[in-house]
Amino acid sequence: TYIVTDNCIKCKYTDCVEVCPVDCFYEGENMLVIHPDECIDCGVCEPECPADAIRPDTEPGLDKWLQLNTEYASKWPNLTQKREELPEAKEFDGVENKFDAYFS
Ligand code: SF4
Ligand code: F3S
Repeated sequence: TYIVTDNCIKCKYTDCVEVCPVDCFYEGENMLVIHPDECIDCGVCEPECPADAIRPDTEPGLDKWLQLNTEYASKWPNLTQKREELPEAKEFDGVENKFDAYFS
């Protein structure tokens, strides 16, 4: 599966949802997540994210993000159409460890 990671936080560009063939993105206030059981591993969304926030879960060190995607995909509403990025997106794009600073 692919998962959404830290750099989506406070950016939420939403380009990813437009290309997903199975509509498996879910929307929180500050970021999106992918439903790991619905993702068919096509990889199409990864290069679409301007913030480079989407990763295959086979990359090392992403356990926390797999857990977070799994948990919130069942709590947040589905998002299938692109919307405006967050107003602070440019400012926060590339800031490190946004989860610890703003989301925990
Ligand atoms: Fe959707 Fe494919 Fe991305 Fe999975 S890898 S979230 S199926 S676009
Ligand atoms: Fe987030 Fe990138 Fe999608 S910033 S909303 S994962 S396009």
